[in-house]
Amino acid sequence: MYSAHQLERARALTYKHSGITLGSNKDVMIANRLDKLKRDVGHDDIDAILNAVERGNHVETFVSSFTTNKTNFFREEFHFDDLKNRVFQEAIAKGGEFKIYCSAASTGEEPYSILMTMEQAKEEYGSPMLNYSLLATDIDLDVLKHATNGVYEWNKNADDFPDWIKPATFFKRRPHPSREGDYLIKAKETLARRVRFNQHNLMAENYPFKPEEFDVVFCRNVLIYFSQADQNVILKKLFRTLKLGGTLYLGHSESPLELTPYVERYGQNIFVKVKEF
Ligand SMILES: C[S@@+](CC[C@H](N)C(=O)[O-])C[C@H]1O[C@@H](n2cnc3c(N)ncnc32)[C@H](O)[C@@H]1O
Repeated sequence: MYSAHQLERARALTYKHSGITLGSNKDVMIANRLDKLKRDVGHDDIDAILNAVERGNHVETFVSSFTTNKTNFFREEFHFDDLKNRVFQEAIAKGGEFKIYCSAASTGEEPYSILMTMEQAKEEYGSPMLNYSLLATDIDLDVLKHATNGVYEWNKNADDFPDWIKPATFFKRRPHPSREGDYLIKAKETLARRVRFNQHNLMAENYPFKPEEFDVVFCRNVLIYFSQADQNVILKKLFRTLKLGGTLYLGHSESPLELTPYVERYGQNIFVKVKEF
């Protein structure tokens, strides 16, 4: 059990380091995350750990304990259909370099789904020369490590792939070292070399990107963790990095809020930038 004061300290530190807003209905979750933090830091005195975080120690471990990393391959599959069938074709028609930004990449299933979609589109539309790149970021160093390794359990993920993707084209498969009958898959180098994983906090004052740097921005299932005021600030920063005519993909319960007059809606949480903010 944690005292109200300890829960409050954890809430304040979570907001300070990640922007994640934990309401008063989240006390049970905070307690579970503090349990995890104690295990990860390797001792039991939560006050001492919170003191250390306040002094700037164990911050990455703290942030990892408080992020929710749920994701899967081809989550909200219609976004990948849109990327392949509309955005890709427009990119081919336009030519030049094509840059994609995935802003809350978690363990990597989302960025690898983007890459598979792009590779499949190249194959289907016979445009092998499209010069594209993907930057994938997250605040959580643990998930970025997982994403960079690119290793996933196959049985858990097998149903996530749409029928227009052949996983064997993109992943090597090997038996699970400890579970008979299960498999691990690893992204092939041809896929993995297309993505760069970096740490970036969406709450950062300055984003290390140029205005209109990206053709596509994925910002899915992360805004929900922030207050509406912070969501607007983040959306505007992301919007500045998106080209006019570029596409913003948001998660199923997220909206462009104050950017609404500057975008055209193309489908379920698919927004095209039509005006500068
Ligand atoms: C629920 S996952 C969503 C992953 C993926 N976008 C998807 O839709 O499946 C949310 C991710 O946002 C990340 N996140 C939370 N706060 C963040 C912040 N301030 N800056 C960047 N990423 C953050 C978490 O670490 C987590 O990996």
